[in-house]
Amino acid sequence: MISLFIKSGLNQEEYYSFFRNFASMNQKSVTILGIESSCDDTSAAVIRDGLLLSNVIASQSIHEEYGGVVPELASRAHQQNIVPVVDMALKKAGITRHDLDAIAFTRGPGLLGSLLVGTSFAKGMSLGLRIPIIEVNHLHGHVLSHFVRQKPDDRVPSFPFLTLLVSGGNSQLVLVKSHNRMEIIGQTIDDAAGEAFDKCAKIMGLPYPGGPHIDRLASQGDPDRFKFAKPHIPGLDYSFSGLKTSFLYTLRDHVKTTPDFIEENKADLAASLQKTIIEILLDKLDKAVRQTKIKTLTIGGGVSANSGVRKAVAEYCEAHGIEAFIPQRAFTTDNAAMIAIAGQFKYLDRKFCPYNAAPFARTSV
Ligand code: KG4
Repeated sequence: MISLFIKSGLNQEEYYSFFRNFASMNQKSVTILGIESSCDDTSAAVIRDGLLLSNVIASQSIHEEYGGVVPELASRAHQQNIVPVVDMALKKAGITRHDLDAIAFTRGPGLLGSLLVGTSFAKGMSLGLRIPIIEVNHLHGHVLSHFVRQKPDDRVPSFPFLTLLVSGGNSQLVLVKSHNRMEIIGQTIDDAAGEAFDKCAKIMGLPYPGGPHIDRLASQGDPDRFKFAKPHIPGLDYSFSGLKTSFLYTLRDHVKTTPDFIEENKADLAASLQKTIIEILLDKLDKAVRQTKIKTLTIGGGVSANSGVRKAVAEYCEAHGIEAFIPQRAFTTDNAAMIAIAGQFKYLDRKFCPYNAAPFARTSV
């Protein structure tokens, strides 16, 4: 049967007829298992009709001592975690695997070895259950995370809206026209905002990932104490590599004369760095809002957990009469709930995935 799916030239009806529930696509209720394994978190979640039934995340602490994610260690940890994590997600949701209508998995972007674990698991489980698989772009997941409802009356954004997507690998401004149609109108030309946080934190000798450490220190520091370079890039694109260099040179020059400079000034350094990153983000965000005349704004990705970013975006929206969607912190970092909800919208559009789909390391929304 597997070869049936791998061979090309299968017509759509032949392909879907394999799935036990294809005939009942007009069913009232849709239950999706989401699987996320793009980096160093193994996560599984169950969503029924947009409502979150469970969201289990196993984080990998093994990378801390290396100052960054080690791909080979990450994929091995995913292999160990995936079965218990999926099992727990089903149990917490109060369902069995036979209640599932489809399995959504992160196809990319991310670490290839890590993605392979989730992709292969999703394929195997779907073949066993005779239910379709749905590939999800990790970045679409972040954008659509605002549609995960924990209570039936939770607010969700209306289209079109603008998303500021800021993570360790991406900084993008995305114009979202529908659940399955989005356009990048601005993105970083070098480092991502999360990389700026992490690389500058590393220069300060802070552990990986540095973003949360900068956030914590910044709350105790003076954001106006130090000035760092800001980019002059036309249009809506971002750049953070100049800031990183400016931060490095500032610290290097001070350390020459004051060896304890970083330790003595770490809160002010963190606060000033965070302020600069926020100003860079908000500058292009404001341009994008003016260009698109958009009235709804969402943020997503790991950096949207940052207290300063959340406050600045909320204040900006308040001042400009824009409806803001700031995700709960649990939904800012990698999680399978966002993969399941993205999968649900594709399921409703019958956008399934062939079994020869291989993961991809790089792409944008
Ligand atoms: O979205 P994410 O979990 O991973 C991907 O890149 O896909 O984002 C991770 C990034 C890291 O760069 C991390 O330092 C940053 O999000 N981050 C933060 C905070 N929490 C996570 N950056 C600043 N402040 C935070 N509180």
